Amino acid sequence: MGYMMLCVVLLSFLAYATSEPVKFVDCGSVEGKVVGVDIQPCAQQPCQLHKGQSYAVNVTFSSSVASQTSKAVVHGVIAGVPVPFPIPIEDGCKSGIQCPIVPQQMYSYVNQLPVKSEYPSIRLVVEWELRDDANKDLFCIKFPVQIVS
Ligand SMILES: *[C@@H]1O[C@H](CO)[C@@H](O)[C@H](O)[C@H]1NC(C)=O
Repeated sequence: MGYMMLCVVLLSFLAYATSEPVKFVDCGSVEGKVVGVDIQPCAQQPCQLHKGQSYAVNVTFSSSVASQTSKAVVHGVIAGVPVPFPIPIEDGCKSGIQCPIVPQQMYSYVNQLPVKSEYPSIRLVVEWELRDDANKDLFCIKFPVQIVS
């Protein structure tokens, strides 16, 4: 392998390692389509969430409908059972989205996921929905996390 080639490979590997997109599963984004999910900081996957810290979640999606409002609903799925996961701001229109939402437009939904110190140290799946006027999901994503001390 030539020196240039090696450099290109190493550089692209570095870029990949520092900004790895979060692996997620779509759980029924009926009124939109998710392009990517980013959690900061999240150096490895599943993301390690330290108690007492807050994490920035950035979901980039396109809407296929118009909506005046958007409301986030977050659950932690523990052993298959969804438990409400409180977030400080439920209003998607106050979380990076300029409302009203119009069809065929890309949006970046950015919010905080605070990890309380009283949470148990477990692995769980976070299920994050953003609902429109009709209470249908603009997006629904699931991603695994690990809560650590
Ligand atoms: C969210 O992600 C999108 C797409 O990667 C990016 O353009 C945008 O700047 C990000 N927003 C924040 C606040 O990180």
